[in-house]
Amino acid sequence: MSNPSNTRPRILTGDTPTGQLHLGHYVGSVRRRIELQDTYECFFLIANMHAFTTRANEPESVHNDVIEIVRDQLAMGVDPNKASFVIQTEVPAISELTYLFAMLLPFNRVMRNPTLKEEIKVKGLGDNYSFGFPLYVVGQTADILAFAAHSVPVGEDQVPHLELTREVARRFNQMYCNVSDQADDKDHVELGGVFPIPVADVGKVGKLMGYDGKQKMSKSLGNAIFITDTEEQVKKKVGKIFTGRQSPTEPGDPDNVLFHYVECFINDADRVAELKDRYKRGDNIGDGHIKQEVADAINELLEPMRKRRVEYEKDDATILDILKAGSAHAIEVTEEVLARAKEAAKLGFFEREVRYR
Ligand code: TRP
Repeated sequence: MSNPSNTRPRILTGDTPTGQLHLGHYVGSVRRRIELQDTYECFFLIANMHAFTTRANEPESVHNDVIEIVRDQLAMGVDPNKASFVIQTEVPAISELTYLFAMLLPFNRVMRNPTLKEEIKVKGLGDNYSFGFPLYVVGQTADILAFAAHSVPVGEDQVPHLELTREVARRFNQMYCNVSDQADDKDHVELGGVFPIPVADVGKVGKLMGYDGKQKMSKSLGNAIFITDTEEQVKKKVGKIFTGRQSPTEPGDPDNVLFHYVECFINDADRVAELKDRYKRGDNIGDGHIKQEVADAINELLEPMRKRRVEYEKDDATILDILKAGSAHAIEVTEEVLARAKEAAKLGFFEREVRYR
């Protein structure tokens, strides 16, 4: 449950539910969330409507993925007493603002979004995507602004979406709240704007490579380490990391995937420096040995996660309770923002109340 009477800076971030989380998600986002939950008012959104951009024909599996992605984040260490988990489709303000923001964004501006274009390419959609596919980008601006979030922790690939969000917030504040187009981003609210101009908080390690060393870790590429993997499975996967190095005395270049793992998972900075130094000099340090240290470090990280996951696997009711509380809190916050936005744009006529039974 969340703390409603709270003046901490507000953070919102989210995920499209796609199934099991892996270490790439942990390194790329969940780890940062766990750090942030202590100091910020955090909302973690499950963007189930976004999943419908490509999976509208699989409602059941999207529904299950909503629960699974929360289960995994809880297992990884997100604390439901500190942060709110929110189901996107349970927050009406998001859809309402999406429609409105769609009016404020030039169509071509949305279609030029590099992340959107990349997704259309990678997914091989050609021109065969739904109207809603590009609309999700507008929807994401609404996800963020409905909460009047100050900061959005995301990976590099989401930065274009944040740029668009900032643009729409500025435009709204200028068009409907008399904020000058000369105003500094940080002054918008003070000058009467409904929306703060949010910043992207791009983490230090944005991306974990798969153990194949070729591409970003991804379930569909079969190069992922899952929190449900056993110690043996982790060891086996790490063992598959390929460096091309032949012997413990061959000088190696630590700018490789093995050292990417060393840096991500071995916490002791002195040990990392020592390994690097010996590797470069070929000072009797085998890849096998380094892999063992990496696997041990990963297993140490995963151990408490595996334990928590067993607890959260017992039933769905606990997860659903967490989602209901988080979404109810989200409704309080977003209805307030939405009412102010509708008033500013002269779209609101009557007061209303939204709540769950
Ligand atoms: N598009 C994001 C992704 O694929 C998920 C997302 C949806 C999101 N809404 C958001 C991220 C709002 C940050 C803020 O990863």
